[in-house]
Amino acid sequence: MHDARLKLAVLASGRGSNLQAIIDAIENGKLNAALAVVISNKPEAAALARARKHGAPAVFLDPKATPDREAYDAAILECLRKHEVELVALAGYMKIVTRVLIDAYPNRIMNIHPSLLPAFPGLKAQQQALDWGVKVSGCTVHFVTEGVDAGPIIRQATVPVLEGDTAESLETRILVEEHRIYTEAIRLFADGHLTVKGRYVSIT
Ligand code: GRF
Repeated sequence: MHDARLKLAVLASGRGSNLQAIIDAIENGKLNAALAVVISNKPEAAALARARKHGAPAVFLDPKATPDREAYDAAILECLRKHEVELVALAGYMKIVTRVLIDAYPNRIMNIHPSLLPAFPGLKAQQQALDWGVKVSGCTVHFVTEGVDAGPIIRQATVPVLEGDTAESLETRILVEEHRIYTEAIRLFADGHLTVKGRYVSIT
């Protein structure tokens, strides 16, 4: 029988707690999607083991096997097409995505970032927030465009920065919200509630 659920791919490089939140939402019936494949650029990524445990294909693609980022993304694209993927979720994916993927999946690649964008893009966003002295930080789910952490914003959640916070304690508090809003953003996409107009994502 034809599976009408949204076919989702997750690209992850590390521990995969956001992937786990997505898996849990699928297994609990809160997210009407099927995890079609998990792809990693790191063979030891815990995310791959989490995918296998869920019974989803887990694929390591070696960046060293391709001459440049575009060729690597072409290899990813081939894998996505093989699994008929409709939406790609980057979850702790530590590589910059090129036009090869973005053009093939316009407004169909999401990312989660641990700050309130456009503040603190790039690496170590939690430390950047502490160094700046902000009193509120949080996380952002956005569509992926060519600029790093720069695409149209889908969902954001705020988290207070507390006296004595370290990058780790702030990260832990932000992660709780990441897991909540990422699964929510994917659910909104899966259920057809997102429309992108320029930079603006309307939720209906
Ligand atoms: C998260 O903080 C996410 O916002 C950032 O990388 C981290 C990934 O964590 N892009 P995990 O691998 O999902 O646990």
